[in-house]
Parts: sequence; structure tokens; C-alpha cells
Amino acid sequence: MQLTPFARQQEFLAATEDEVLYGGAAGGGKTDALILRALLRLQQQPGAHVLFVRRAYPDLEMSVIRRVLPLVQGIAAYDGSRHLLRWPNGATLQFGYAERYEDALRYQSAEFDLICIDELTQLPEDVFALLLSRNRTSIPGLRPILRAATNPGGPGHAWVKRRFIDVAPPDTTYTDPTTGRTRRFIPARVQDNPHIDQGYVQRLMELPDLLRRALLDGSWDAAEGLAFPELRRDVHAFDPRPLPEHWPRFRALDWGFARPYSVGWYAVDEDGRLWRYRELYGWGGDPDVGTRETPEQVAERILAIEREAGETVRPGPADPAIFGAGQGTGPTVAEAFARAGVVWVPADHRREPGWAALHERLRVREDGHPMLMVATTCLHFWRTVPSLVLDRHRPEDVDTRGEDHVADEVRYAVMSRPLAAVVRPAPPGRETLGFIREHYLRRQVAREERFPWRQ
Ligand SMILES: Nc1ncnc2c1ncn2[C@@H]1O[C@H](COP(=O)(O)OP(=O)(O)O)[C@@H](O)[C@H]1O
Ligand SMILES: [Mg+2]
Repeated sequence: MQLTPFARQQEFLAATEDEVLYGGAAGGGKTDALILRALLRLQQQPGAHVLFVRRAYPDLEMSVIRRVLPLVQGIAAYDGSRHLLRWPNGATLQFGYAERYEDALRYQSAEFDLICIDELTQLPEDVFALLLSRNRTSIPGLRPILRAATNPGGPGHAWVKRRFIDVAPPDTTYTDPTTGRTRRFIPARVQDNPHIDQGYVQRLMELPDLLRRALLDGSWDAAEGLAFPELRRDVHAFDPRPLPEHWPRFRALDWGFARPYSVGWYAVDEDGRLWRYRELYGWGGDPDVGTRETPEQVAERILAIEREAGETVRPGPADPAIFGAGQGTGPTVAEAFARAGVVWVPADHRREPGWAALHERLRVREDGHPMLMVATTCLHFWRTVPSLVLDRHRPEDVDTRGEDHVADEVRYAVMSRPLAAVVRPAPPGRETLGFIREHYLRRQVAREERFPWRQ
């Protein structure tokens, strides 16, 4: 297999600065540009040591190693146990991941004359600093260089922007006044890549506004404000299908009358992963306008949906406000729901811990999957959550002026299932522990159903 760089990638390959960042948008051939850079060094420099980093090993395996191996077949030897590629001239390419600082410490004693980092904003700044300190060589006359690529957004957005984007206009060289080292940002967008299909561009164009500007145009400012930049259909969405019957199911609610309400149905798999497989959104048809349905009407719709699906669904968390007597007289919204047959439990509605828990659930795990999956049919989730922005004055909080009802409901759901508390027994004890937990939950649920007013 042969890989030929297109024009933008050629500029990247020819760049002479100490540190070069490529990309800033989706589909600009970032990963391939880094692969080309690494292979070029191996070919040209006997004895070179290259390190190719991504945050997590599954990403490295899926998008880098699998792509590199066919390209070097018959040329280089790959040691799969050490993730090490050996070129005949003695040059080596080490594939590495650096999810945490401790991971990066493994490379502490090594020297790499070329370090390639893909999806740079996924890395914390201290990990980057540690890797950078390994960017050296004992080959006389060879300049150690660092090459990276990334989309905007992600946990490291701020420091990457500060280091590469804010210091100089794109395509110009910046010289660090203290170290004398040079940097450059080479923007690349999907339009620069002749190998992309139209469907991909079309999907980017259909993204919600801020996300589209971040991924299609590579706008660092648009990405900055997004509350959940890590949220991606190709990672977090699943096509609707019957989920195993033995997965417990519960629902969550963010109540609204003049504004939309959001009901989400969740199934919990063996790993504690939540599958939001259905939603009922009280939407008046315009952004953030509700249907003015009563709790009884909504309860009826919920029960009808569940009857039709033949499901048993457990009581789940709801906005604690529905347990307070709003007008001072008459039944609370929660009581009205309970009388109509739908029981809710007061949610833990602390905002910042809730958003942190949601970020944690969206994070991709070692098996390549996050701990929260959302059906593609949850249209209002996908319409509203990806475009929510952060509160300017409270950077840990979501701006409540956005249409945040689905997000609030999801937050209640994740807070009702703290990840640390997930029992993940070793195989032999599995049945016993699982049974105890099930039994406990069932007792709790039975109690909730019998005594809803106690909640
Ligand atoms: N020089 C190239 N030759 C052939 N295909 C390429 C080249 N550069 C990128 N591509 C293809 O374009 C698509 C997007 O490239 P990729 O490097 O994955 O982009 P990014 O990492 O920016 O999202 C991939 O299918 C990739 O194989
Ligand atoms: Mg890529």
C-alpha cells in the first residue's frame, strides 16, 4: 500500500519548526499526516527513534497501528508485544499511549528524535511536558522535533490553544522568547483532503452550530464554549435495537410545563453502562417551548409506551422541585404522577458534581466504549445536548439559557448511578454479588412503589 501526501500534508512534512501542530478540523488528514511524518523519518534517518502517541491504547490500535502495518508490510518488522516497529536501517517506531501521567512515565528514560502526538487536546498539559522532555537525540546533527495533530475541543483545549494557536497567526513561525524554540500551526480542513467522500462532509454540515464550526471550520472559539465537546455520534450513539431483557430499566425526568419536560429511559448493562434507549420530550415545536401537559397526561403517555413495549421499568430520579408544593396547595407534581401510576425519586441535583459525573460517563474506556450510550432515535438529546455551552461566569457549569432539559434529565440519571459504586465482581462471585445487588434494588424499588410519599 502506498500513501501519497496531498498539498496540505506536504507543507506539514516540509515544515522545519521544532514543534508543529496540524489540523484543527475534522477529516483534514491529520492522522495520516502524522503517519507519513513518522515513516519519512524512519526511511531517511538510520538509528532514528520515533514515538507515536495517542491518549488511549484502543485509539492507537484502531486508528494508527492498523493503518501503519499494511503500509510497511515486507519492509519493517513489528513486535506486537512491545508495540515496536523496527526499520531495516536500525530506526524504530514506538507506539505509545499516555492516558495518565504514570503512563507517560514509561517513556521517561528513553529518547525520541521525533515525537508524533495525535489528538493533542486529549492530553493533559503535564503529560505533554513530560513527553516533550524526552524529545532529544544522541545522533549528531539531527534536530529533535515534535509533531502533533488535533481537533479543537477536548480536555486539553485551553493549553493547546495557548501554546499553538494564540501565539501567532496560522502558517507563521513563532519563536519562544525564553527557549528560542520555534512553533507553527498549520490549519487543515476537510476541504483540503481530496480523499474524503461527500457523505462525510454532509454529516459535518448537519451538526449543531457550534460543533459544526468547531469540526468543519476548525474554529477554536466555537469549541471553547461547548459544554460537551467530547460527545460524538460515532462514539456515543447506537442504532435502536432490542436490549437484553435482564438489563434493569429505569426512567428519569426533568419536569416542565410551559417549557419542555424530558423523560429518558435507561437500561443498565452488566458493566454498569447506561443505555438511554428512548425519550419522551414535551416539545411545543419551537426551541425551548413546552406542551403544557399535566403530570397525569404525561404519566399516561409514559405508561402507554411501556405497555406497548411490554417493559418493566423502575422508578427513577426526577427534578426535586416536583416534590415541593409549588403553589402551596393541592398535590405536588410528584404526587400527581404517583397517583397516575408513575413514581419518581428525588434526584441528586447538584449541578457541578452532576456534570462531572456526566463527563466521566462520556469518557471512552479501555474497551473503546463510553459508559453512556444514547440511541440515535433520541432526537432531542442529539438536537440539544451537543450544542449546550458553558456558563461564562462558572466554567464548570452549563449555561442555563440553553435548551438544557434533556441534559438535566441525563444528569439526574447518571447521579442516580454513581460509577464508583458499580459492583463489578470477578467471574466466580458474579452470581452471588449480582443477586444480592438485584435483591437489594428490588426491595428498594418495591418500597418506593408502595410508599411513594416517603421519598
Ligand atoms: N494522503 C492520503 N492518501 C489517501 N488517503 C488519505 C490521505 N490522507 C488522508 N486520507 C484519508 O482521508 C480520511 C481522513 O483522514 P484522517 O487522517 O483520518 O483525518 P483526520 O485524522 O484529520 O480526521 C481517511 O479515510 C484517510 O485514510
Ligand atoms: Mg484522526
